[in-house]
Amino acid sequence: MPRVPLVPVFGRSPKMKSIKAKPKFSGGDLRARWSQQYAAVRAETERRAAPLSAEDQVVQSMADASPTKWHRAHTTWFFEQFLLSSHDPHYERFDERFAYLFNSYYVAVGPRHARPQRGLITRPGVEEVAAYRAHVDAAMAALIESADDMALERSLSVLEIGLHHEQQHQELILTDILHAFAQNPTHPAYDKEWQMPRSQPNASGFFDIAKGIHLIGHDDDGFFFDNEGPQHQALLQPARIARNLVTNAEWFEFIAAGGYRTPALWLSDGWATAETEGWEAPGYWQNVDGEWFTMTLGGLRPVDPEAAVCHVSYYEADAFARWRGHRLPTEAEWEVAARAGALSDAYGVVWQWTQSPHAPYPGYRPVAGALGEYNGKFMVNQIVLRGSSLATPEGHARVSYRNFFPPSARWQFSGLRLADDEN
Ligand SMILES: [Fe+2]
Repeated sequence: MPRVPLVPVFGRSPKMKSIKAKPKFSGGDLRARWSQQYAAVRAETERRAAPLSAEDQVVQSMADASPTKWHRAHTTWFFEQFLLSSHDPHYERFDERFAYLFNSYYVAVGPRHARPQRGLITRPGVEEVAAYRAHVDAAMAALIESADDMALERSLSVLEIGLHHEQQHQELILTDILHAFAQNPTHPAYDKEWQMPRSQPNASGFFDIAKGIHLIGHDDDGFFFDNEGPQHQALLQPARIARNLVTNAEWFEFIAAGGYRTPALWLSDGWATAETEGWEAPGYWQNVDGEWFTMTLGGLRPVDPEAAVCHVSYYEADAFARWRGHRLPTEAEWEVAARAGALSDAYGVVWQWTQSPHAPYPGYRPVAGALGEYNGKFMVNQIVLRGSSLATPEGHARVSYRNFFPPSARWQFSGLRLADDEN
């Protein structure tokens, strides 16, 4: 098979270097590699859903969380909507009604079911959603295998976005079911054997960031979402950033010092949220006879003092930093330090709140069409988190990755590291 260059939609070198660099695909042709990659990502979604019953997969415990069944169908709709329907003239939709049920927020492609009511959709059931996935998987396999070179060229960049999109929903499957299970007084475990990743501090203290111009943003030829570019210069003042994540032991001190009862430590919106929600500890923490427990993917567990604090909002992270006489890092500071290899547990434990708003980089232009809605329209009232978490699929995150959530959100696996100005 001839090698077919990609047409970048979000970002990717036409030379496909990052795919070539993956050893498990060495020697195969381009179509085989994409078939394998597609199958692997789709299988990971099913692996994450497998421990969940049909009842588990229907529940929606709050407006921001979606049912597992919806995640499985929505990621499938993404391929159907943005690839098969527009790139394959022979494709027949599995069910015309699914475009309404499983469109998330793409206004340009039509009306959609209200997000807070996803949990009311008992039909299609999990078996029909599985059949939907199989229908789309077969069509995708046929498209990758048999499309002519021109059609394949047009398809691959959307295919790649679809796979990264599905990986984002794989993380959400876990964050959302944890929120659902946390509402259940019997504290169900998603996986009884689950363990919080242990922090691996390799040095204490702070890393110094030199004053000057630093390059920020995506800078190699791998895939990236549009909000990670363009690469640009950022002028940083001298600063320092903690090498390690804030731990639960430190959070115990914050609670004991009255951190949740001291309005002077909090942003106005944060204090109002903490009061309204009755926050007195991180999300999922429960005080049982004087001992702190937390709801985890393994069920209710004692809070481990040595583990990184998790399920804190931006508001709490900001208040904690102020209590410690520090601040949160900017996302540029985080990226400079991460590129220097100075951050322990940068990836794979908790997403780390920065103080940076999710705003466009200089020169940012969302792509044309509906996929331009992916990130660009969420560049207000959201705060950037950097790194990745214990729930992030293997190979999904990178140093320029910009996750974002509203400042009150704490159902994600979110923590923090401190920073300070260098005086
Ligand atoms: Fe989505």
